[in-house]
Amino acid sequence: MTATDPRPRTTTRRFPAGFLWGTATAAYQIEGAAAEDGRTPSIWDTFSHTPGKVFGGHTGDVAVDHYHRFRDDVRMMADLGVNAYRFSVSWSRVQPTGRGPAVQKGLDFYRRLVDELLAAGIEPSLTLYHWDLPQDLEDAGGWPERATAERFAQYAGIVAGALGDRVTRWTTLNEPWCSAFLGYGSGVHAPGRTDPVASLRAAHHLNLGHGLAVQALRAALPADRQLAVSLNLHEVRPLTGSAEDLDAARRIDAVGNRVWLGPMLEGAYPEDLIADTATVTDWSFVRDGDTASICQPLDLLAINYYTPTVVSHVAEGGEKPQDDGHGNSEHSPWPGADSVAFHRAPGERTAMGWAVDPSALYDLLTRVSSHYPGLPLVISENGAAYEDEVGADGTVHDPERTAYVHAHLDAVHRAIEDGVDVRGYFLWSLMDNFEWAYGYAKRFGAVHVDYATLARTPKTSAHWYGRVARSGELVA
Ligand code: NOJ
Repeated sequence: MTATDPRPRTTTRRFPAGFLWGTATAAYQIEGAAAEDGRTPSIWDTFSHTPGKVFGGHTGDVAVDHYHRFRDDVRMMADLGVNAYRFSVSWSRVQPTGRGPAVQKGLDFYRRLVDELLAAGIEPSLTLYHWDLPQDLEDAGGWPERATAERFAQYAGIVAGALGDRVTRWTTLNEPWCSAFLGYGSGVHAPGRTDPVASLRAAHHLNLGHGLAVQALRAALPADRQLAVSLNLHEVRPLTGSAEDLDAARRIDAVGNRVWLGPMLEGAYPEDLIADTATVTDWSFVRDGDTASICQPLDLLAINYYTPTVVSHVAEGGEKPQDDGHGNSEHSPWPGADSVAFHRAPGERTAMGWAVDPSALYDLLTRVSSHYPGLPLVISENGAAYEDEVGADGTVHDPERTAYVHAHLDAVHRAIEDGVDVRGYFLWSLMDNFEWAYGYAKRFGAVHVDYATLARTPKTSAHWYGRVARSGELVA
């Protein structure tokens, strides 16, 4: 899909019957109630309470108080007209130390949420891990340690036992790239460690956790349940066509994408990744049989997409232009890729500084689908932050977000027309929330949240998206 695409543009794009029109959130970003009903700290509680780690010293202690307001939030979604909702379970709420028996009150919260969704005709899509590792497990070594993967599979089994009768769609991990490389590499995310070896060990144990969790889920769930993983696949674009820039793109594709896709879908780590990272680690933490455990059949591959990744080669000691929007850190999140520089793609940007480029979503979908034919895809996150303000009449007018979502849905539709099997789209996010290291400073919501009163006001983009969801049609 380029400016020169010769195909005629129709004015109305109809999405397939049964397409999931959803919004997405994550536990730590919205729930609050951080110390209620037996919940104990996760690594994000510790990190956000550590001075200097999160913008403005913001924390998820209260967040947008979804724990107490979930009924209203579900009603709000139903009023908008979406038919699916992606949320995550807080491991610390269900199994506070990451070990041992479950806390019934924690499980009851999710059961009530799911029941409320089902009653409203909204399909729940459950993510088991959206970055909030119980602090006790981090104290025992965290994701760089194998035991964490084993604990994760036990936790998956607990949640499956409690909710498997009513939740059809299950996702193991959300964006393990961020957990491994921002959490243990650049340190801009919890737990804030800056150790390249630990980040690669974490990547492997996240992969292993995924594979073991899929096995635990299959054992505990009815046979028709759909299992997925959500990856923030990078659409990597070389700055120029030079051989050096193409190799920079290959390196980032390896440590950004194929580090997950290789073991999860092909049963092996890519050889070029092992070679690129040879000065960092010999990968001896990968035991015989691990990649077979990781490579479990999936029903869907879920993709989070926001912006392309533009890279070039830089000579050792050469100057690097900018970071790539993943936060400023003197430590790189990309082990084995010191010779790669990141560039912001040209053109319009969101409040995150991320370039708006729907053609990269089209390219990503078509590329992944031709590489893994037969594996249905879903967009588990797409959206944008803008500096939304409440107008004098009380409305929040956000035409940029509507335009962003429209253009990306258009790209999804074009991919579907070209034969890519995309089953749904989840807008990030249902409502403004705790944007990790940016605290509450970045607003991704379709619904505005007033942080003084916690009042929710659907933005104009939410009403627009609801109309698209209800009709299944995108009108140009
Ligand atoms: C990806 C993450 O999964 C989500 O938690 C985050 O808020 C959005 N991207 C926006 O940065």
